[in-house]
Amino acid sequence: MVPELQKTTVRIQQPERVMGVIRAIKEQGSSKLQVISDFDMTLSRFGCNGRRCPTSHNILDNSHVISEDGKKKLKDLLHHYYPIEIDPNRSLEEKRPLMVEWWTRAHELLSQQRIQKGDIAQIVRESDVMLRDGFNELFDQLHKYNVPMFIFSAGVGDILEEIIRQANVFYPNVNVVSNYMDFDDSGVLRCFKSPLIHTYNKNNSVLQGTAYFQQLSTRTSIILLGDSMGDLTMADGVPSVENILKIGFLNDKVEERRGKYLDAYDIVLESDETLDVVNGILRYIL
Ligand code: C5P
Ligand code: MG
Repeated sequence: MVPELQKTTVRIQQPERVMGVIRAIKEQGSSKLQVISDFDMTLSRFGCNGRRCPTSHNILDNSHVISEDGKKKLKDLLHHYYPIEIDPNRSLEEKRPLMVEWWTRAHELLSQQRIQKGDIAQIVRESDVMLRDGFNELFDQLHKYNVPMFIFSAGVGDILEEIIRQANVFYPNVNVVSNYMDFDDSGVLRCFKSPLIHTYNKNNSVLQGTAYFQQLSTRTSIILLGDSMGDLTMADGVPSVENILKIGFLNDKVEERRGKYLDAYDIVLESDETLDVVNGILRYIL
């Protein structure tokens, strides 16, 4: 049915159930389907040739517009809070206030750097960001079959939009909810717009007020793509979900986190930098 599911990177706890969901989504057809995806480390690559690829925040942190002192402070925050973000032994309740702290501090530091709106395109062009292999096919197929693609990101919206624009895949069926920069009249960053989206509030609480989810209430088949345990609630705002397939990229601390990912995601992709499995499933469905 989907030969890509035989890849050695694929782990599935309940194969029969997963095949049933994929079949049901196919039966419902493309007019009932929507894709809800995380951005950083899900659509973008986690690593390349043994080196880490940047998140949308890291692209700014490492860019030429940030002072050396600013860079050091942002790196210190990353080294302190990232291990907390991915720690399988801490509860989400414990992590949530700490994530708010991380994002708030990082956004404050970035807002002190006089970043200009007009610099964003160059910052992205000069970065090491990479989309996962197969991104062209993914975006092209969804566009061709008019399947809405909702990108729900705790990253920086202005940066990730520029990434997909430069990759020539920012089609009209793509919608983004993320943290957006607020520029003053002269185009200088002064703060980030609210609500703050962090790894563990990607749910209804930040989607209220976006008309987007109402529009999509007839799309009752969902393919959800994520890399964090926080991405699992991204579809909670959809009022009537009939079939949902959750695909999780397990990028980091694979052995430690495998159990939790297998319990939570229908399909787990271990250290797989490609979109092969997602594309294979879509080829079967569409
Ligand atoms: O798009 P996504 O929801 O994955 O974006 C959030 C990611 O950005 C988190 O997984 C986190 O590790 C990373 N991050 C970062 N620097 C920050 C805040 C978050 O790299 N200041
Ligand atoms: Mg992510």
